[in-house]
Amino acid sequence: MLEPIRSHRVADLVQSDIRAMTQRCVELGGVNLGQGVCDTPPPNPVVAGVQGALDRGANIYTRFDGVGRLRKALAGKFERHNGLKPDPDCEIVVTIGSTGAFAATLMALCNPGDRLLLLEPYYGYHLNTARVAQLETELVPLQGPELKLDAGLLEEKARGARALVLNTPGNPSGRVFTREELEAIADICRRHNLLCITDEIYEYFLYDGRKHISIATLPGMWERTVTITGYSKTFSITGWRIGAVAAHRDLAAPIGLVNDLYYVCAPSPLQYAVADGINTLADDFYRDLAQEYQDKRDRFCGVLKEAGLTPAIPEGAYYVLADIRRLGCDNARDAAMKLLEEAGIASIPGSAFFADPRGEQLVRFCFAKDEDTLNRGCEQLSDWARKQR
Ligand SMILES: Cc1ncc(COP(=O)(O)O)c(C=O)c1O
Repeated sequence: MLEPIRSHRVADLVQSDIRAMTQRCVELGGVNLGQGVCDTPPPNPVVAGVQGALDRGANIYTRFDGVGRLRKALAGKFERHNGLKPDPDCEIVVTIGSTGAFAATLMALCNPGDRLLLLEPYYGYHLNTARVAQLETELVPLQGPELKLDAGLLEEKARGARALVLNTPGNPSGRVFTREELEAIADICRRHNLLCITDEIYEYFLYDGRKHISIATLPGMWERTVTITGYSKTFSITGWRIGAVAAHRDLAAPIGLVNDLYYVCAPSPLQYAVADGINTLADDFYRDLAQEYQDKRDRFCGVLKEAGLTPAIPEGAYYVLADIRRLGCDNARDAAMKLLEEAGIASIPGSAFFADPRGEQLVRFCFAKDEDTLNRGCEQLSDWARKQR
């Protein structure tokens, strides 16, 4: 037997709780409100776009940074929706999902041993991808039940760091950072010469009239920000793996280089299909999407509240952190398992998103489910709560 088997890069990493919970949920025939998979159908132009691309024979490698049609479509979207003006020829890189964008960014712009700041609660892939890239990670806890930014704390930790990861709207926090918070972050990035890597994959999932703000639009930020997005969530195509980076050409060039080395290119027919979606779906598609998810949020949070699992009402994205202390378990993993065994609902233990003990009092639910699944989840949760009384 080869010994040691694992490289240092992955020696301490284990498969995330998210997958383990999903597996157990399948075994029990439960409702999976754990994993962030939206199982609603993709929009028609996107589905038709794949067929069209296949009929046209879009089967060969594309340019490393994506087909021209998609880069142009993305440049238009970044201008209209985000207020950015990337040059489609050298400031956009089409990637294998946002996950591929994030990994390529770390490999292209950070050195082993560089310090990366992550706001806590964090998205597990951000933390673990950074570990595989051999970066030092430092957490900056968001404060209080509303998970607000503590700019003073961020300032303290920023000294000597290489980069900060931002995720707005946030998974699992549901936070949509305010302009004031983003200005404070931008100010710290500029003064401490930090790279800002912002994962904006949930940019269309905004509630109660909130507007998306890309930090790269703030003064002096375009040159030091990598803006990451993806269509997994917006078009319900998590298995297609189409994401993108928009960044100043000096940042985009090395990211494109790594993207080429690791992935060569994103799948060609799917790139054309996403371009068709961006080019043909009008504003009302995105408005309706946000409204649909806001309704789901309200319905599901109402049920959580009645069940005594007090939710932190999300401002965006499609997750909700709920307080599980009434379950009387020692930790979040036990509580999530209890909920799965008793109510048939899978969730993710909060400890997957926090290093500090706050995570042990929380689980995360995902409400990006089709109507039937969400209804079943709501009913099972209500029934379970009734039996507890
Ligand atoms: C914050 C965040 N970034 C990225 C991803 C993954 O995106 P993609 O499918 O584009 O790789 C997810 C999925 O849950 C996410 O929550």
